[in-house]
Amino acid sequence: MSLLKKLMLVGVAAAALSGMAYAANDMSSEAVAERTKPVGSVYTAADLEGIVAAAPAGADSGEPAAPRTGEAVYTSNCSACHGTGAAGAPIKGNAEQWASHVAKGRDTLIKHALEGFNAMPARGACGNCSDEEIINAVDYMLDAI
Ligand code: HEC
Repeated sequence: MSLLKKLMLVGVAAAALSGMAYAANDMSSEAVAERTKPVGSVYTAADLEGIVAAAPAGADSGEPAAPRTGEAVYTSNCSACHGTGAAGAPIKGNAEQWASHVAKGRDTLIKHALEGFNAMPARGACGNCSDEEIINAVDYMLDAI
C-alpha cells in the first residue's frame, strides 16, 4: 500500500473515531437523561398525576378534586339498577315508580341513598363517591321525573 493510501485510511479512521467520540460526549441534558434513565422506568409520579387527572369522570380511579356531576355519578354508579329496574330499583324518569319514594321528601331520599335502604346499597355501592356526588346523583334522578 502506498504511503498516500495509508495516510488516507488513517484519516478516514480518525474521522470515524472522532465522530463516535463526539456522540459519546454529547453532554446535552436530553442526551444524558436518555443514556442514564433507569431501565424499565415508564411512568414518573408526574405522569401518573396526568393519567389520573385525564381519567373519565366517574371512573373508579380515586376521588377526583372536583365533584362529579349527578349525571356522571348516575351513569357510572346508579344506572345499572336505576336504568333497568334491577333489584326492584325505581327507574329514572318513571314518575309512577318514583311517586312513593318522592313522597318521603328529598332529605330522606338523600339519607337513604347515603346509608342504604332495603335493596338499595349505601352510596349505590360507590366506594369513591363523596356525599356531594351522591346528592348530585339523587337530584339528577329527581330532576328526571
Ligand atoms: C344494586 C342496585 C342499585 C344501585 C347500584 C343503586 N340503587 Fe338506588 N335503589 C335500589 C333499589 C332496589 C331501591 C328501592 C329500595 C326500596 O324502596 O325498597 C333504590 C332506591 C333508591 C332511592 C330511593 C330511596 C327511598 O327512600 O325510597 C334513591 C334516592 C336511590 N336509590 C339513589 C341511588 C343513587 C344516587 C345511586 C347511585 C349512586 C343508586 N341509588 C344506586 C337499587 C340500587
